[in-house]
Amino acid sequence: MPDLYAVIGNPIAHSKSPLIHAEFSRQTDQDMRYEAIFAPPDGFAIAVATFRQCGGKGMNVTVPFKLEACKISTRLTERAAVAQAVNTLVFDNDEILGDNTDGAGLVRDIVINLDFVITGKRVLLMGAGGAARGVLLPLLEHQPQMLTIANRTAQKAHELQQQFSAYGSIASSNYADLAGQRFDIVINATSASLSGELPSLPAGVFAAESLAYDMMYGNGLTPFLQFAQQQGATHLADGIGMLVEQAAESFFLWRGVRPETEPVIAMLRPET
Ligand code: ATR
Repeated sequence: MPDLYAVIGNPIAHSKSPLIHAEFSRQTDQDMRYEAIFAPPDGFAIAVATFRQCGGKGMNVTVPFKLEACKISTRLTERAAVAQAVNTLVFDNDEILGDNTDGAGLVRDIVINLDFVITGKRVLLMGAGGAARGVLLPLLEHQPQMLTIANRTAQKAHELQQQFSAYGSIASSNYADLAGQRFDIVINATSASLSGELPSLPAGVFAAESLAYDMMYGNGLTPFLQFAQQQGATHLADGIGMLVEQAAESFFLWRGVRPETEPVIAMLRPET
């Protein structure tokens, strides 16, 4: 019997995780199976329990269950505890270890795949929801000169700033007050792209040679990446690299083997 893993979410039909993990296991010759599980909004805990009873060894957790996954974990890694969100579960006898590999995936994509230094740079993180919270600690670990969190509801950005101030240099703002400031790396962690919208970033925030990173991805450039391009950002990246890297981190946790991500990113990226 191959070892059993799954991604759980709602919706889940379009998840690329089964494809990614199938590639990883083929590449590293692991005897495992990875499936997608749809759970109703109030059926997460039961679905996880059933999966464990069937011998499941671990799960990826996606929208809207990351918070609940945090609650059912019997032990949390520091990065998951700080993020208050879990995207990876490891089942080990009675223990449920909850981890969050999203931030590590983002940082690995920026630093290794895109060859962009975070240390000493001015970083702007747009958004103050779960996605932003999940990546704050790994970003701060790279010691940017300043990490500014901007959000439509400025109070939420301010709360995150206070909560994370012990981990590095961090500021908060609304979008309008960013006028006149320049950033080397601008990361969109809002869900605005989902509805084809764009946070109201003032013109001129992209420094020369800057990187614009959208944690979302889709066909073609997202509204944010289009804006960044018009504003002179020279490097544009969507969330496909992060998606594959967070999956690789989960795979490593489960199997102790690090798969190669580059061919999988290339496989998922639509032909341009
Ligand atoms: P997620 O888990 O994806 O982060 P979330 O916790 O609901 O989802 O947070 C969504 C984030 O996207 C928030 O920062 C939200 O801003 P507000 O806190 O002001 O609501 C941001 N967001 C969503 N749509 C947006 C839009 N059209 N313009 C700007 N920000 C937007």
